[in-house]
Amino acid sequence: MPVVPQRILTLEGRPGDGARIEQVLMHAPGVTELMSGTYELVIAPACGCDIGQLMASQAFDAVLLCLGAGLTDPAPLIAQLLDAAPYAPIVAIADEADDELALRAVCLGAQDYLLWNELTARSLARAIRASIERCWAKQQIAESRLSFVWRLAKAAECRDEVTGNHVVRVGCYSKILAEALGMDRQFVEAIFVTAPLHDIGKIGIPDAILRKPGPLTAQERAVMQMHCEIGERILRDDSKAMGAFRAWRGLHPHGERFEPVDSLLEMACTVSLTHHERWDGRGYPRGLAGEQIPLVGRIVAMSDVFDALLSERPYKRAYSEDEALAILEQEVGRQFDPEIYAALLRSLDDMRQVREEFNDSHCEEHELPFVLAPDRN
Ligand SMILES: [Fe+2]
Ligand SMILES: [Fe+2]
Repeated sequence: MPVVPQRILTLEGRPGDGARIEQVLMHAPGVTELMSGTYELVIAPACGCDIGQLMASQAFDAVLLCLGAGLTDPAPLIAQLLDAAPYAPIVAIADEADDELALRAVCLGAQDYLLWNELTARSLARAIRASIERCWAKQQIAESRLSFVWRLAKAAECRDEVTGNHVVRVGCYSKILAEALGMDRQFVEAIFVTAPLHDIGKIGIPDAILRKPGPLTAQERAVMQMHCEIGERILRDDSKAMGAFRAWRGLHPHGERFEPVDSLLEMACTVSLTHHERWDGRGYPRGLAGEQIPLVGRIVAMSDVFDALLSERPYKRAYSEDEALAILEQEVGRQFDPEIYAALLRSLDDMRQVREEFNDSHCEEHELPFVLAPDRN
């Protein structure tokens, strides 16, 4: 369970908001079970304050965002708060006349809102506590999902020649490229989680082909290329059996079909299906070209090849960064989207950091034993 709030950041839309909050909470008989007995209020101006620095300097259990007067557009501030702490519990507080502003704050990512005229110690403590619990639950779900994805990606990788930290680097590179392209936080988080699943379909490719040491025949290559569609099918499983499985779980006792709307799974399907498409339309499986290829597919394609070039494989040495960039550059406008290549060039420092942090020679000893027999026949 999450902790009771101990340090609360109050961002003042106008001077004195923090003192008003303090006043309210001071007269708080009966709220001690909702708040830590020794909670601390940190008060800062909402405008002109370096939110990133403030959030980095100390951990806050919740943020009270006082709107109105000096703060009439909560969007930039909420974006900064969520950039600094994606699961920050934010409670907006506004005058009755600014009711719409408070609602807008909730749409932008605040957990709850209260109006000054109905603010009591109990309502405030309850809103803070409930917001913390909601954010904590969201974080648990996100982390558990990441954990499952990671293991699933590793399971697929385990059957392939690709070992070490390839899938996690592809996730990190894709995140960096998405940020460099100016994509929003949700897209960035989603691509980070789903890019490692790009080759999940290799689970369905026979060993004789997947682990064949020599070049593949045309027929074998066609089977190998099916990994994109196999992966898409695995991730999009909406079979009858899956519906029955959900019903068995007890949530849908009458066996009615439950159609999950999971944008993350949708993106994972797209990643699997499109990461071998080429900008010039000569890729597979669909032969899509240019912007017909979903952006996630174009980003993961670049991340995947960039990492493959820099990594040692049974059939090739690891290229230097300069060599890898020279190879990629030749493929700009052919295999790769020129804008994504430009984003890669802008992000080389961050890419290097990922390479350093997830270097295969640093693979931890407790990682799964991915060592494949040298003779794979
Ligand atoms: Fe692939
Ligand atoms: Fe890959």
